[in-house]
Amino acid sequence: MSSSTPEETAPYGSGTPATAPGAAPAKRVRTHHLREMKQRGEKITMLTAYDMFTAATFDEAGIDLLLVGDSASNNVLGNETSLPITVDELLPLTRAVARASKRAMVVGDLPFGSYQASPEQAYLTAVRFMKEAGAHCVKLEGGTEMAPVIEKLTQGGIPVMAHIGFTPQSEHALGGYRVQGRGENADRVRRDAKAVEAAGAFAVVMEMVPGDVAGEISRELAIPTIGIGAGNGCDGQVLVWQDAFGLRTGRMARFVKQYADVHQVLLDGARAYAADVRAGTFPGPEHTF
Ligand code: KIV
Repeated sequence: MSSSTPEETAPYGSGTPATAPGAAPAKRVRTHHLREMKQRGEKITMLTAYDMFTAATFDEAGIDLLLVGDSASNNVLGNETSLPITVDELLPLTRAVARASKRAMVVGDLPFGSYQASPEQAYLTAVRFMKEAGAHCVKLEGGTEMAPVIEKLTQGGIPVMAHIGFTPQSEHALGGYRVQGRGENADRVRRDAKAVEAAGAFAVVMEMVPGDVAGEISRELAIPTIGIGAGNGCDGQVLVWQDAFGLRTGRMARFVKQYADVHQVLLDGARAYAADVRAGTFPGPEHTF
């Protein structure tokens, strides 16, 4: 057992609202909590967040991990893919999420080109996410080939979440958005999962991997697996919030379930506001000094 305080080793309940009325201050989710959740068969929840209000809301809902994904590139900054976003663009978003969350573990996502050149480059980038943005860990894409990078970061005190299967930063190398690990390619995904675990990753995201393969790998690993398009056998799930809550409209990946229609709520709100302004009914006397 580590040198954690008795309070930190006390039984840990997932999904505890961060701001339940009268509750004790929420304990920050740590890597060992996630491993214990896996051991207890308790599912881990993760959502993306890129700003203070969504971060605070998801934290209040008891989401365990908030990923400030490089998907901000195509969900916040208006790019077509995750490739163009830079470290300098992602750091302020990460800082906002870290400041706004009390309980969730905040995952800083290393952008394309900011860590693949060498373990040293990766370390220097990851340190910026921890120091300047207050991330509690970092995520990077890649399997076996990323083992030296994961070793360097973990030896330097930085918890690493790996990301294997379909890795969006390699979209062009992989020939587009395609399921990874079908048929004999299942062994490659399995090798990647075992390599990142052996290198010291505390968890691994598996994206667009057949459910049976992802389930088997999840049972074979001691570290938690977080699935996105990888079925129900993973130890946890992640979705991009704009997909899950319907801010994005149009065609959605098969693995997305839509839990809310935020686009419609905002559209109705904006139309009602415009109608009031145009009719001269807003502001009323109650909004006027
Ligand atoms: O950046 C991101 O949103 C991600 C998730 C798809 C896991 O990497």
